[in-house]
Amino acid sequence: MLIKKIRIFIIRNYLLKRNELLLGQKEKQMKPAIRLNNIEEYYFSKKLREVENLNFKGKAIINLGIGSPDLGPHPKVINTAIDCMRQSQSHKYQSYRGISEFRKAITDFYRKQFRTNLNWENQVLPLMGSKEGIMHISLAFLNKGDSVLVPDPGYPTYSSATKMLEAEPIYYKLDEINNYQPNFSALEKLDLKRVKLMWVNYPHMPTGADASKETFTRLINFGRKHNIIIINDNPYSFILNDNPCSILEHANPDNNILELNSLSKTFNMAGWRVGMLAGNPDLLKEVLKVKTQMDSGMFYCVQKGAIAALRLSKDWYTKLNNEYRERREYIWKIADKLGWKISNKEASGLFVWAKLKNGEKSEKVVDRLLYEKSIFVAPGNIFGDNGEGYIRLSLCMPKEVIREALGRLD
Ligand SMILES: Cc1ncc(COP(=O)(O)O)c(C=O)c1O
Repeated sequence: MLIKKIRIFIIRNYLLKRNELLLGQKEKQMKPAIRLNNIEEYYFSKKLREVENLNFKGKAIINLGIGSPDLGPHPKVINTAIDCMRQSQSHKYQSYRGISEFRKAITDFYRKQFRTNLNWENQVLPLMGSKEGIMHISLAFLNKGDSVLVPDPGYPTYSSATKMLEAEPIYYKLDEINNYQPNFSALEKLDLKRVKLMWVNYPHMPTGADASKETFTRLINFGRKHNIIIINDNPYSFILNDNPCSILEHANPDNNILELNSLSKTFNMAGWRVGMLAGNPDLLKEVLKVKTQMDSGMFYCVQKGAIAALRLSKDWYTKLNNEYRERREYIWKIADKLGWKISNKEASGLFVWAKLKNGEKSEKVVDRLLYEKSIFVAPGNIFGDNGEGYIRLSLCMPKEVIREALGRLD
């Protein structure tokens, strides 16, 4: 009897322990990393699921929300990549730094377009898009507890990359009244002791504001004075912009300045995932360390296609911008019809930034338009508190579709 009781006791204890262990393991597996505590799913990832559901229910939503170019790359670019695919040598791993021919094509492009004199051997690094670069730069320079200056409004990835590394974004306000240029006297008043990076983005998304030469030189001086790395994210420089600029045009190689650029918007190659980082060679070396641990080189045919794109003649840019200019006329009409005020008719980039009337809330207006008129636009507040009360409309839809959206408002 006693032996039976002992046996039951042992078995019960064993099962309890095993359950506890399994529960503990399950809890461990279910818990995401602490660094994700402040990260939410990207707004568009969530909202586009809602749009998809509405489409599934037969709503035929017109999407004027996102900036993914609908026009294709130049045929030369596509043919170069196709020919390359047929060569057996193309399918190997590639150099971490990109092939020399691509790096030379980037420095030639920068020289021609932005009057810079970058060294192809150590001042450019091909990347899989500008977005990848934002994370790589953050990984290369941020420790837990560091701070980063982030524009408000601005591209949300600057702050999510910062938060993912347990660093702190410090938002600096960009105001319409100041043509969305940084307010340097306000910046000087901030506690900058822990600030290591400052993100700037000209031409600016979502507002389309361009930086003046003065803004770039003041940024370079500000970075030098406070020992902060300034990074200009520059993917929109060739869209609806008569005067493409680069911060590197005004910097020396030893200034703490970097610039991201991308083929996504200029050459309609968003899905190719190809862009570049340029600037201070010592800083680039650190980013390369991160990159060598994260990927194994860019697909050779993507690099060859990108070279063909960077060498396109002026006609490419003219044709592209003529198309966007025509589309923008209709987008302006949509904004007018809804009583929204266009922030700047000279804006660069793929978007129109418009102010709502009577202090309306951006997301409320977006949902009303989505559910009542089946048109999706982006609410300004997803780009920061300073974007509240604004709407971003994309030019990445054919004219006929934009016209149809306009018709739906009648
Ligand atoms: C300001 C800004 N930076 C970077 C990106 C990402 O570009 P890429 O496709 O080169 O990663 C975007 C894309 O929307 C953007 O708006």
